[in-house]
Amino acid sequence: MKIAIIGAGSVGTALGKAWSRAGHDIVFGVRDPTSSNARSAAESAGAKARSTTVAEAGALGEVVVLATPWEATESAIGAAGSLAGKIVIDCTNPLAYRDGELGLAVGFDGSGGERVAAWAPKAHVFKALNQVGYLAMEDAKFPDGFPAMFVAGDDAERKPAVLHLMTEIGFEAVDAGPLKVSRLLEPYAMLWIHLAYNQGLGRDFAFSLLRR
Ligand SMILES: NC(=O)c1ccc[n+]([C@@H]2O[C@H](COP(=O)([O-])OP(=O)(O)OC[C@H]3O[C@@H](n4cnc5c(N)ncnc54)[C@H](OP(=O)(O)O)[C@@H]3O)[C@@H](O)[C@H]2O)c1
Repeated sequence: MKIAIIGAGSVGTALGKAWSRAGHDIVFGVRDPTSSNARSAAESAGAKARSTTVAEAGALGEVVVLATPWEATESAIGAAGSLAGKIVIDCTNPLAYRDGELGLAVGFDGSGGERVAAWAPKAHVFKALNQVGYLAMEDAKFPDGFPAMFVAGDDAERKPAVLHLMTEIGFEAVDAGPLKVSRLLEPYAMLWIHLAYNQGLGRDFAFSLLRR
């Protein structure tokens, strides 16, 4: 599958490596394809990977993955052109500082995932990969089992393909329901961030699901 990753930072690079190991073709959509970040992300995502403009990547990708800072996400979607009919995986978290504390810019009666769907009309938007750190995206093998990856999205026909993309890179993919469940998955990411940075867990952990 041709996967366009918009943003070649920590998350974009990690996902490019992981999906290229799973056999997918990766193209990064970046503001400056000649930058050292853009070049090293492409180098690390296999021989066929390359970095290009956001517009070209948006046009090429069968799946378009958003790995941009929240504040850049609307303009990145605009630069990607029409994403109508494509699967869009939104990894972003709508982070913002309020009174010096990191929190969510959107919540309770809305979510970043739903905003993304409004900015990309007719795309099939899924929220996923926002709930763990990039280290787990690059390598999801943990000694105690598989990390869970909740996927929220409205398109039942395409959801199995998105769940499969999670499974391929080592997650236990869990259908979390419709896109508006992003309202739960984004605060859930805040819990991960809080544990990592305030509670001393560090960045190399993920949540898993136990059943009886
Ligand atoms: N870091 C994590 O562990 C983690 C985990 C889960 C979710 N997330 C979420 O994932 C998103 C990306 O996080 P990150 O840590 O990968 O951030 P990052 O390392 O800062 O990378 C962000 C990338 O987005 C690019 N970018 C910025 N503005 C852009 C625009 N207008 N158009 C296209 N590309 C643009 C930047 O490229 P330039 O070189 O052009 O600036 C950079 O390559 C965020 O929303 C974050 O909340 C992060």
